[in-house]
Amino acid sequence: MTESAGRLKDRRIALGITGSIAAYKAVELMRLFQNEGADVRVLMTTAAVEFIGTLTLETLSHHPVDSDVLSLQGDGRIGHIAAAHDVEAIVVAPATAHWLGAMANGLAGDTITAACLATSVPVVVAPAMDGGMYAHAATQANVARLREFGYRIVEPESGVLASGMVGLGRLAGLHRIVDATVAALSGAPVGGQPTPMPTRTDMADLHVVVTAGGTAEPIDPVRFVGNRSTGKMGLAVAKNALDRGAAVTLIMGNVSVEPPAGANVVRAETAAEMQAALRALTPPAGPRFDVLVMAAAVADFRPRSPSATKLGRSAGLTLEMDATPDLLAETSERVRASLPAGSRRPILVGFAAETGTFERVVAKLESKGVDLLVANDVTESGSGFGTDTDRVTIYSTDMPLEELPLLPKYEVAELLLDRVLIRLENAAAKSDVPAVAGVPQPAEIGR
Ligand SMILES: Cc1cc2nc3c(=O)[nH]c(=O)nc-3n(C[C@H](O)[C@H](O)[C@H](O)COP(=O)(O)O)c2cc1C
Repeated sequence: MTESAGRLKDRRIALGITGSIAAYKAVELMRLFQNEGADVRVLMTTAAVEFIGTLTLETLSHHPVDSDVLSLQGDGRIGHIAAAHDVEAIVVAPATAHWLGAMANGLAGDTITAACLATSVPVVVAPAMDGGMYAHAATQANVARLREFGYRIVEPESGVLASGMVGLGRLAGLHRIVDATVAALSGAPVGGQPTPMPTRTDMADLHVVVTAGGTAEPIDPVRFVGNRSTGKMGLAVAKNALDRGAAVTLIMGNVSVEPPAGANVVRAETAAEMQAALRALTPPAGPRFDVLVMAAAVADFRPRSPSATKLGRSAGLTLEMDATPDLLAETSERVRASLPAGSRRPILVGFAAETGTFERVVAKLESKGVDLLVANDVTESGSGFGTDTDRVTIYSTDMPLEELPLLPKYEVAELLLDRVLIRLENAAAKSDVPAVAGVPQPAEIGR
């Protein structure tokens, strides 16, 4: 074991590895746990053994690996029962769709489910699979069931998957899994900070999706092309919606402030990851939200061929860039194309960071297909990136433009969501059709 005075010093952890392509990352995860001071023993499904074998894990953990639910230990104890009693936390990473289903139903056909059933210690689960598999209602229902058991789910991330496709299903960053384990062992409430009670209820039946922060487009493994966004405006919108009782999914790029407690956070670092997260929320069956506020500063260009290795300085650097997809226009098109007949269209809000003039905003309102476009002049002092205040002008498809004074971002968010609510009420008054999404069940959040 690596000696360390880390956050998991002398804690005994069982690492359960299942048959996902991401199983190879489990070796690195075990090292991270050890670097934090933990003593790790490994449990594996037979499929996981097919993927990565046991030798490396046995060597590095200094414990035999238990991959056979029918086996006894050298001292005659039943392996999975011994693990269940000897450890202080069980971490299942990666967790396959199959394993989630087995666990949700208490089917002790492998050593990890058997240990989880036999134990009362905290269980942390990090799913990893193809985006379609993760989005499937069966998988989502199984994840929801595990949450009911009190298991801590470390949501997967969006990005390139084993199939080569981009989707939401990639194993969470290993540091997130370690952090969740530290939180589990410290008795922090599941889900991180406790969810505060909403102060109002005027958005109580709504699922609001907010994109926030800037994207980071890689040049090489070390550098990226980014922008000055700190995410404060998007996070203020998310906070205001939570305070009004909405269920909030926050698709978050680089931000400089903590996301509000209670939001379901989906990390998306690049434009491609943000696109994948938005696509997962607008499947062919119809959009899964009532309101979408796109406040993220998504890169307009990304390096054409990011280098797999760190670039040296001696050769100089000329970057060829490609335009990124227009996420606002694409999402509004997907919403319209997928909307089930007779259902109410969600309200779509975009943000436009302009410099000096708003000449282009009216054309943008039309080309992006949104209901409201919030423009601000990022060159104005006290407004735009990094500030706690903003002076915005709200353009809409059905009302004259509104120039708001310089206000704290939370108040801008409040006024903006007031206008969203008016549009939702107007739409409801015009027809009796139900909302598209309604408040998502826990299982539906975060795809
Ligand atoms: C190359 C390959 C990669 C796979 N990756 C995953 C994956 O990432 N997630 C998943 O849920 N299943 C994946 N599967 C399918 C599982 O291996 C399969 O469902 C298996 O029965 C899981 O067994 P277990 O849950 O007992 O470990 C993959 C299969 C193959 C052939």
